[in-house]
Parts: sequence; C-alpha cells; structure tokens
Amino acid sequence: MLIELPRHTEIFGCVKIHELQKVLKFESNSFESPLLRGVSREEIDEILHKTVVIVPVKDEKLHLLDGVLRSIPQGCEIIVVSNSQRGENDVFRMEKEIVSNFHRVTKHPITMIHQKDPGLSVAFKEAGYEVILDNSGFVRNGKAEGMVVGLTLAKNMNKDYVCFVDADNYIPCSVNEYIKLYATGFILSKTPYSMVRLHWRYKPKVMEDRLYFKKWGRVSEITNRFLNLLISIHTGFETNIIKTGNAGEHGMSMKLAEIMAHSTGYSVEPYQLIYLLEEFWKGDSKFKEAVNLGIEVYQIETLNPHVHEDKGDEHIKEMLFGSLSTIYHSKLANDKIKNEILEELKKNEVIKKEKELKKNKILPPIINMNMKKFIEVLLSHSETLITYQ
Ligand code: GDD
Repeated sequence: MLIELPRHTEIFGCVKIHELQKVLKFESNSFESPLLRGVSREEIDEILHKTVVIVPVKDEKLHLLDGVLRSIPQGCEIIVVSNSQRGENDVFRMEKEIVSNFHRVTKHPITMIHQKDPGLSVAFKEAGYEVILDNSGFVRNGKAEGMVVGLTLAKNMNKDYVCFVDADNYIPCSVNEYIKLYATGFILSKTPYSMVRLHWRYKPKVMEDRLYFKKWGRVSEITNRFLNLLISIHTGFETNIIKTGNAGEHGMSMKLAEIMAHSTGYSVEPYQLIYLLEEFWKGDSKFKEAVNLGIEVYQIETLNPHVHEDKGDEHIKEMLFGSLSTIYHSKLANDKIKNEILEELKKNEVIKKEKELKKNKILPPIINMNMKKFIEVLLSHSETLITYQ
C-alpha cells in the first residue's frame, strides 16, 4: 500500500486526529519518506493475522453477505453477528448456510452468533454488562449492540485489532481494500491505542439515467460539520479536520476498543469521536496508560467507491437524528451549537420539537466485564453460536 503521510494533525490532549490521507497505489514495497509511506504485503499480512473482522448483519441480501465474506483477506478471524429474522421466514438459517458453505469451500475460520441468542443474555448478565439488554432480557436491537457483541467475542480471541465491515456492500473487493487500509493505519500508528476510520472516495448514486459519483453522503456532510463546530467552539480556531464522523467502516486496536464507550444505533460512530474528546481531552480519564501513550485517529480515503443498499429517506432521517442528537447531548456542546442542531433537524423534517431529542443510551467500555465468566456461560447456554476453525 502506498499512502500519503498526514501533513496536518490536530492535538486534543492525548488524542491526535490526523487529516485525511489518500491511497496512492494499492501495492508497494516497504519504505518511508517525509510525505509518503510504502507498506509491504508482508507488513500488512502480519497485522491481518492479529485482526478480527466483525460483520454486523440484519436481513441483508444473502448475495451481499456472501460477497463480503469472500473478500475478507486471508489471515483475519471473522465474526458475523446477525440480528436477522427468524421464525417462518428464517433469514438467519439461510445466513448460516452461507457461512458454512463459505467455510467448507475456503477453510477460512469464522464464528457466527445471533444477537437475540438467550445464551448471550445470560452471559452478559453474569459478566456484569446487563446494560446491553432490553426490558425482555434480550440484547437490544441495533447495529451498535451487534458491534459490541462482536467486540466481546473478539476480545476472547486474544487478537490485537478489531474492525467492522457492513454486510450490505455491493462491491466485494472494496471490503478487501478496507481491511488492508485498517492494517496500514495500525502500522503507521505510534501508539497501541489507535483507530482507523475510512472515508469513501465516492458514493455513487443513480441520477436520472446515469451513475453520478457523489463525494459526500448527505448525513456525513452534516455530521462532520457539527463535529468540527463542536471542536472549534473549544479551541477558538475553525477546523475541518473531521471527515469521517459517520464512518461505519472503521477499526481499532483492541486496547482502544476495550476502553471505548458506545452509543446506540446510528450515533455509534460520531459518538466514538465525542467520547475520545470528552474523556481524554476535556475529562480526567481513569485510563492512565492511554493518557500516557496517547491515542491516534487516522482517516483514510479509499480507492474504491462505496455502493451499498439504499434504504430510503426514513433511514437517512434516522441516521441524521442519531448522529446529531449525540452531538447535541455532548458535554462539549454549548447553546449555539444546540440551537443550530435543532434548526438543522427541523429543516430536514426529522423532528418538530426540541423535546424529541432524547439522549442516546451509552454502553460503557467492555473492559470491566468478567470475560472469563462471559465465555464460560455463553459456551454452556448459547443456542446459535457456531465456530468453524
Ligand atoms: N447485528 C446487527 N444488528 N446488524 C445490524 C443491525 C442490528 O440490529 N442493524 C443493521 N445492521 C447491519 C446491517 O445489516 C449492515 O450490515 C450494517 O449493520 C449497516 O447498517 P445499515 O442500517 O445498512 O446502515 P447504512 O448502510 O445505511 O449506513 C452505514 O453507513 C453509515 C455511514 O454512511 C452504517 O455503517 C452506519 O453506521 C454509518 O453511519
């Protein structure tokens, strides 16, 4: 991988956020110059063997899930966390077929679980993490909750890195690129506490009768603007450093992932940045090793465009609501930014009144969970956990 080195970095306490980096060539030898870094296949391979890839999935087209799995690079562990329909139209059963066929043909190790597995409920409860359960005692719905299930399983695989790829991707090989870009970011990082967030080069849309390669998604543009404003009101300097507020595609070192808090639903990605700023810039964090060694956030622009399932205007509104409400409720937000967020949501017909802006539930870091207990209980109670080695 040949990648630009960040020319500009903004520093917030022990958190460094690097500006967007471009990929210049997909393959390279290993070298470093003041402006560029070539990362060799061997270097990337070494990281891949220490990586777990989590695929959250809910009722996606089976072809898409199949394509995503097949393009995950060799060496990584895979965890599929499904919240798909069961019962009469048993989508989960069909996903299980896809996964077992994938393993039979490729021999790639893969683990799969259903988010509503009663064994997961008992395991989370016994491990002291009931906060992820709903009133009926099951893990709540939501992509973020699926991510935390995956993260907890990944923690038990003793790997160093964990990353996420969505299952609704129409260009399988872009997934291969994403995972190699995460590995590249981890190689560049000078600290064991790192995060890599991807910005898609283009997000093509069909407009009239042709493909139009849009640069920004509607939600991302707005979320980034408000995250940057949130920073600016504290530094007194305007910034546009944040380009990946809604980066569904992202990865973290396990050390960072286990001290990360997670907001629910679609606020999960913007909240990761807010959490880092609140906890490690404006807060007095109890995670002293992270404070001493520092945290780095890399933002990388992909070569591939991103083509995913178009889920319509209501879905966009839901994402905008999740993203902006998490900024609105941040300890860092002042009245000015709160008012602007309200106006933006009203303008986009997402809400009518301020009181609709409920605070998102926050899932605390998994570091305090009793992992030994979690795995012990899960293995004895799970009805859906499948592990192919
Ligand atoms: N396990 C699990 N549980 N997975 C879920 C759930 C759930 O409750 N809900 C959605 N997913 C899966 C989807 O099947 C898909 O693989 C992935 O999570 C993304 O969810 P979508 O609802 O399809 O989101 P999106 O594709 O519109 O948005 C993506 O990009 C945004 C940035 O543009 C997501 O990654 C967003 O989180 C991101 O902000």
